[in-house]
Amino acid sequence: MPPQVIAIDGPAGSGKSTVARAVADRLGLEYLDTGAMYRGVAHAVLRRGVDLNDAEAVATVARSVDLDVTGSRCLVDGEDASEAIRGPEVTAAVSAVAANPAVRVELVKRQRRWVDELGGGVMEGRDIGSVVFPDAELKVYLTASAEVRARRRADEFPGMGVQQVAAEIRLRDDADSSRAASPLITADGARVLDTSDLTVRDAVDAIVEMLE
Ligand code: DC
Repeated sequence: MPPQVIAIDGPAGSGKSTVARAVADRLGLEYLDTGAMYRGVAHAVLRRGVDLNDAEAVATVARSVDLDVTGSRCLVDGEDASEAIRGPEVTAAVSAVAANPAVRVELVKRQRRWVDELGGGVMEGRDIGSVVFPDAELKVYLTASAEVRARRRADEFPGMGVQQVAAEIRLRDDADSSRAASPLITADGARVLDTSDLTVRDAVDAIVEMLE
């Protein structure tokens, strides 16, 4: 049987991770957070003291780093970096790492290998439906109003005010949408789901219905 992939893409704060994980749980499928892979590379770049502007050196890190992303756990070179990859240093560095075409080539290769090895699953990111698995069984583009996205992220990071979070999200959205390599777009054939007024359960129900 060909691999079955449910691709869930969308901007920061659209509810992607929570919803994608819940869809995988509901359907008994594997789940891969590809954003955690880009964050893992950014973490390794910072840990190794590599210059973020040195594209070749950053690409070398991506090719050599040992990444193990399983559920919400992320091991980088054997060390548990699950918390560190969500911290401010990695968050500030990750857009530059994700804009590096050679990094993307390497991580897309690893993402496709994950599907080959596990036979499919729910994969979330920015380019899953457009680049990684354009033939996915189902492609969903999750979105939410800028205000709701900022509020959700501020709830996750209580130390930061909504204004500061909103500014940070705007910067990252701009960087992710305007970069030359695999920008965040709504993939051909993707179903758009606005989660602004939906509970997680509503969003999961809607996605499971799309499959039926
Ligand atoms: O979903 P996230 O915030 O953890 O993603 C971290 C960064 O990685 C974000 O700047 C977008 C980028 N990313 C990407 O370019 N492609 C993906 N498939 C997943 C994430």
